[in-house]
Amino acid sequence: MAVIPGDGIGAEVVAAARQVLDAVADRHHIELDYTGYDWSCQRYLSQGSMMPADGLDRLRDADAILLGAVGWPGVPDHVSLWGLLIPIRRTFRQYVNLRPIRVFEGVTSPVRGARPGEVDLVVVRENVEGEYSEIGGRFGRGFPEEQAVQEAVFTRAGVTRIVDHAFALARTRRSYVTSATKSNGIVHTMPFWDEIVAERAAGHPDVRWDAEHIDALAAKLVLQPERFDVIVGSNLFGDILSDLAAAVAGSIGIAPSANLDPTGTFPSMFEPVHGSAPDIAGQGIANPLGAVWSAAMMLDHLGHPGAAAQIVAAIEASLLDPATRSRDLGGTADTRGVTEALLSHL
Ligand code: NAD
Ligand code: IPM
Ligand code: MN
Repeated sequence: MAVIPGDGIGAEVVAAARQVLDAVADRHHIELDYTGYDWSCQRYLSQGSMMPADGLDRLRDADAILLGAVGWPGVPDHVSLWGLLIPIRRTFRQYVNLRPIRVFEGVTSPVRGARPGEVDLVVVRENVEGEYSEIGGRFGRGFPEEQAVQEAVFTRAGVTRIVDHAFALARTRRSYVTSATKSNGIVHTMPFWDEIVAERAAGHPDVRWDAEHIDALAAKLVLQPERFDVIVGSNLFGDILSDLAAAVAGSIGIAPSANLDPTGTFPSMFEPVHGSAPDIAGQGIANPLGAVWSAAMMLDHLGHPGAAAQIVAAIEASLLDPATRSRDLGGTADTRGVTEALLSHL
């Protein structure tokens, strides 16, 4: 597989994930071949680009991609992200971004009613279109009339496939889908989204569903997080909801993600939900669990559900003890301490 540690704590949490992967692969007799790439803001600053011109071609034949985080002060985010992360998601048609979250035993949620074992949901984020588009521009720079225009692009095929994915996933869980919308305020795209959700839902009569406006949904995620099972949302809504849900589960440091090309034509990419966290980078205190859980999702995707389950079980065990929980989760462990605990629980 290809490994791109990236920037800041990305490198720290990917190193931890690799240790855990190696240990579990050894126990399950899985052979893992890593090809590491130093593509990052550091590379941008020294060589003028986030990745080489043939970077995507080099990734194309990988079975999977493990990524840390991209972005660092000194390189504008739209340059670093559109120079590395977003081209990977788009070129490889990773149109599904799965972001599961659970409140684990041992973790105290900042949300009063969110009790361990009760909150267990997945944000299914549309990952290649919607509000994230290159269409638009900045006009009249320096004039009082200056404006910035960003077009959101929703295609019938794009909305249909993400909604179908969400309904199919719900069937394997509690059979309940919530669609994130904003058709009361956004005139064109969200009514279109709603229409397609209703159409596709009709094909899954066994799955309960509803639609919630994104603003109200954000509030309900805090007030009644246990209510939700699968939440399907556009690129931007899914992005925001996934950090919110992660915070409900204690910290964004714990949240994993799988950027999937469900057709299997291209490699899928696994990365924690969080970013490079410049405020804590280099201190060795980042929570590695988001990256480790992402690595488990990768093993599952590669056909090793047993090994994946063993990693998740190690995560669960490590969270029971404050001495092996990281600081963002109210514990005292540093990255290394969490990693060693995981290794001991495998
Ligand atoms: P961030 O996720 O990096 O950090 C937000 C806050 O959460 C910070 O206070 C940070 O210390 C904390 N945090 C994040 N991960 C943590 C962990 N594993 N353990 C403990 N605490 C953790 O978000 P940001 O500050 O908005 O972005 C920083 C940079 O990362 C920006 O350049 C941004 O564009 C980039 N970013 C990249 C990705 C990605 O590569 N997928 C995702 C999000 C942000
Ligand atoms: C994420 C990140 C990215 C996104 C940014 C850094 C472009 O926030 O993976 O959640 O919005 O997709
Ligand atoms: Mn995000």
